[in-house]
Amino acid sequence: MVPKSFGFMMFLWVQTAANISVTGIIGSTVELRCDELNGTFILNNFRVTWRKEGEIKCFVETYDSDEDLTSYREKNQCADFRDRTRFKEELKEGKFTLQLLRITPKDEFTYTCVVLKKNEEGKFEVHREVKTNLKVAANYSAPVLTHIPSGEETTFNCTSSHGYPQPKVYWVNHTDISLLNSTQQYTRAPDGTITVFSTLTVKAATAIKLECTIENEQLHQNLTATIDTSSPENSPSVDNSPSKTKGAVLASVAAVLIVILLILYIGWKKRRTSVLMTYTAPAEIGNRNFGLPE
Ligand SMILES: *[C@@H]1O[C@H](CO)[C@@H](O)[C@H](O)[C@H]1NC(C)=O
Ligand SMILES: *[C@@H]1O[C@H](CO)[C@@H](O)[C@H](O)[C@H]1NC(C)=O
Ligand SMILES: *[C@@H]1O[C@H](CO)[C@@H](O)[C@H](O)[C@H]1NC(C)=O
Ligand SMILES: *[C@@H]1O[C@H](CO)[C@@H](O)[C@H](O)[C@H]1NC(C)=O
Ligand SMILES: *[C@@H]1O[C@H](CO)[C@@H](O)[C@H](O)[C@H]1NC(C)=O
Ligand SMILES: *[C@@H]1O[C@H](CO)[C@@H](O)[C@H](O)[C@H]1NC(C)=O
Ligand SMILES: *[C@@H]1O[C@H](CO)[C@@H](O)[C@H](O)[C@H]1NC(C)=O
Repeated sequence: MVPKSFGFMMFLWVQTAANISVTGIIGSTVELRCDELNGTFILNNFRVTWRKEGEIKCFVETYDSDEDLTSYREKNQCADFRDRTRFKEELKEGKFTLQLLRITPKDEFTYTCVVLKKNEEGKFEVHREVKTNLKVAANYSAPVLTHIPSGEETTFNCTSSHGYPQPKVYWVNHTDISLLNSTQQYTRAPDGTITVFSTLTVKAATAIKLECTIENEQLHQNLTATIDTSSPENSPSVDNSPSKTKGAVLASVAAVLIVILLILYIGWKKRRTSVLMTYTAPAEIGNRNFGLPE
């Protein structure tokens, strides 16, 4: 049972509106907005359908204030969106925001919000369309830089995981800030996230200071690891904002702990002194019971 206005609608959606771009994080929920900016509208004159651009056989989500579209939805909702969509509870305010749950890389599409309005004859007409371009992303982990010296060559590996989309990898010679040629290998996890393995082989046996940067262009994020083979411990150090934040957090936790210990110590001293003054305490005071009388 297809509502009669469905076919009608398909021939009319030609005009375009604003071009919004939204980034969704893999595994989380993204909101695609479609606001009716005109405050004066009556909800039961509207029908809203979110579609995937280029897909005419099914829709992503639909709402009609007058008709129960449950069975229609069951038949015609695109299978890959089943149980992953809902409208935010703001329909009555003219906000047809679609929530798309559990984002995957396969959701990267342009989505169109089609708002139909009943005309005087009671027929639906396309009132408005909003196109939203959904991009998907995921944070890469802090890169791990390792190296194995072997004779005249040294091989460096730089690995970063569970990000999206495919990153750009830069190796930089710290001495002259030149880019170095490397090879990349990518693997894909079942959730669509990518792990990158980058390998650099350096001929020189001399010490070198290098950095490997993983750039996620979608999130405008660079994660960098550096290594200095001349440093005594020869161990790579990871330098990026997350670990800096972690360090700062640890430092403030340590500071707070020191302050608390100091306060406790002062409090203990005070109590001890006052006990000593009040009771002319015997010698064993200040042991297990902190000088308090039994
Ligand atoms: C809309 O977005 C698409 C995809 O990002 C882009 O190719 C197109 O040029 C944009 N159109 C306008 C008018 O901004
Ligand atoms: C309401 O929307 C229509 C068309 O979308 C527009 O012509 C009109 O100016 C709007 N009115 C207000 C008050 O924004
Ligand atoms: C770098 O990766 C390659 C291939 O994965 C591996 O054979 C090699 O042992 C790695 N080297 C280091 C230093 O981790
Ligand atoms: C790094 O740069 C220095 C200075 O230009 C150069 O001597 C060295 O060979 C470079 N190392 C590599 C691996 O390119
Ligand atoms: C970088 O390495 C690739 C393969 O290892 C090679 O084909 C390419 O020519 C190299 N580019 C430069 C600038 O050395
Ligand atoms: C990341 O690093 C690359 C290469 O140095 C640079 O082109 C880009 O602008 C950087 N992006 C950010 C967000 O810092
Ligand atoms: C990605 O990681 C950076 C730094 O670790 C953090 O600031 C940012 O909020 C993260 N973004 C998401 C979407 O998790």
